[in-house]
Amino acid sequence: MTDSPAPTSEHGAPARAGIDRNLALELVRATEAAALAASRHLGRGDKEIVDQAAVDAMRPVLNTISMRGVVVIGEGEKDEAPMLYNGEDVGDGTGPEVDFAVDPVDGTTLTAKSLPNALAIVAVSERGTMFDPGPCVYMEKIAVAADLADVVDLNDPIETTLAHIAKARGVPVPELTVCILDRPRHEADLVRRVREAGSRIKFLLDGDVAGAIMAATPDTNVDLMVGIGGTPEGVLAACALKCMGGAFYGRLYPRNDDERRLALDAGYDLDKVLTLDDMVRSDNVFVAATGVTDGELLRGVRFSPDRATTHSLSMRSLSGAVRLIETRHRISTSNLVPR
Ligand code: FBP
Repeated sequence: MTDSPAPTSEHGAPARAGIDRNLALELVRATEAAALAASRHLGRGDKEIVDQAAVDAMRPVLNTISMRGVVVIGEGEKDEAPMLYNGEDVGDGTGPEVDFAVDPVDGTTLTAKSLPNALAIVAVSERGTMFDPGPCVYMEKIAVAADLADVVDLNDPIETTLAHIAKARGVPVPELTVCILDRPRHEADLVRRVREAGSRIKFLLDGDVAGAIMAATPDTNVDLMVGIGGTPEGVLAACALKCMGGAFYGRLYPRNDDERRLALDAGYDLDKVLTLDDMVRSDNVFVAATGVTDGELLRGVRFSPDRATTHSLSMRSLSGAVRLIETRHRISTSNLVPR
């Protein structure tokens, strides 16, 4: 990570070196703040408020972190998103120049309905290294653990993929578990064919970042995550899997002819299978994620009268360190940002 000439913070403090800091440890405070705020709206049926609360809580914490970040994957275009929009600056204006990806809550509907597996997640990498999906909202995805990186191919039919994974893992195909977003677009083909092959399906109501991380995590009983999901979530999942040592392949999936034309005009190759290195071209990637609702990966926020407890992951690709962090926050009902 390159530091350009030593600026100081607005308070006059010298900028800290970027390369040796584990930014993920500092980023956890931002995902904790988002999860704490979002969880106040758990089960109230309003996903917009969940998202807004998370963004509002996360933004000021991000601005205390010594980095000069630009949002590459954010809340959309400036006109529609008052904060954390694509192109916005984040960080305190000192320190390393970085790309920034954020999903304040992956699983806003899950949170609004108090369903499992919603999390807050951010990722940081060196400036200019994160994939910008441009106009494409969706991509085809496959995520697996590191030992299966050379076993799967996005161009293979799903039956072949399952057979290869089963062989590599030394189990029959029906013993595999496949995570798939529960969407009509997957029913006629992907779901039917996995059913015919006999593997188990673990449906995700939402939240395929958690699905991808589960596929790369031992002991979750998920062998792969496959299907069409959001491109922002694809970039975030790729960042996480780069840190954890998993594998992720994606291909842009335009929703209609207009989107296809926009993508082609902007120079995107719609046939290209994107690897982890295409999704984030850096060996120094930082990811932090905090559970909003309970899930297999992370516990959701727990409240007691004067405390809240969060569970988070902090990861850095350079070291391969993945930390599980339990934090007890002192809170008051009027101020739910951690003190
Ligand atoms: P949000 O909670 O951020 O709205 O997204 C949830 C999510 O399920 C993602 O995890 C997934 O990639 C995407 O939505 C799928 O999009 P769609 O709901 O349009 O199929």
